[in-house]
Amino acid sequence: MNSTTRTDLPADGGLSIKLHELSLSIEGKTILDNLTLDAQVKRLGVVGRNGSGKSSLSRVLSGLVEAKSGELLVDGFNPFKDRKAALRGIGLLFQNPDHQIIFPTVLEEVVFGLRQLGQSKQLAKQNALATLAAFGKEHWQDAHVASLSGGQKHLVCLMAVMAMQPSLIILDEPFAGLDIPTKKQLTRYLSQFPGSLIHISHDPDDLAGYEQMLWLEGGKIAAFGASSEVLPAYLARMHKIGDGDDISQLAG
Ligand SMILES: Nc1ncnc2c1ncn2[C@@H]1O[C@H](COP(=O)(O)OP(=O)(O)O)[C@@H](O)[C@H]1O
Ligand SMILES: [Mg+2]
Repeated sequence: MNSTTRTDLPADGGLSIKLHELSLSIEGKTILDNLTLDAQVKRLGVVGRNGSGKSSLSRVLSGLVEAKSGELLVDGFNPFKDRKAALRGIGLLFQNPDHQIIFPTVLEEVVFGLRQLGQSKQLAKQNALATLAAFGKEHWQDAHVASLSGGQKHLVCLMAVMAMQPSLIILDEPFAGLDIPTKKQLTRYLSQFPGSLIHISHDPDDLAGYEQMLWLEGGKIAAFGASSEVLPAYLARMHKIGDGDDISQLAG
């Protein structure tokens, strides 16, 4: 590693995310607008108002959607073009676990991702059980997902993603609507994740310990840098808007 004076690097480096003039349009509407970023990411928070492009960015970064204009490299590869590397290296956790879970039981759900990685049935089952054990949830293996609470379903999704041992997990507002104890427990599991985390939230309280912050506004980068600088500016702006009456505006 070369000597650098950049202040946005976490102490232990992290995974490289490079965007160069990246834009995403859907049906002629610009959703992400000319994003350029060169970051080493260990714990990156992404904040922004509803509709600012956070979920779209999560889909682009995980390779689910192609940004046809500009360049993108996550850990040195383009996640849309190199689907194998993306499946292995990048996990995505949606806000709504019901959009993620497809199997009836917890074990089947966790096994599925590992089978996708090419593991044999036997190895996938062994690794899935090892992941459940690491979370102290072996007794959940035959539980029907439909019988679980919202927080428990989130944990199933997190276990399924973590079992695949990605180097990056992207979390798209995973804690919205969860109660405080559930949030705290999931945050504790996440803090033990050895890889990199990109955590999207409109609520800075969810992002304690995230040393870098990306603020999106209208599909553009409003700010990127140390959380200690970006978050106060973001909050001041949000409160200022909140003191006005912009939610009554219909055209935007
Ligand atoms: N598939 C889509 N088709 C059309 N418009 C979309 C689509 N996905 C997102 N958008 C629009 O893109 C903008 C950003 O959305 P999104 O990425 O979901 O923002 P956020 O997650 O910050 O709330 C919004 O105006 C939204 O309506
Ligand atoms: Mg969103």
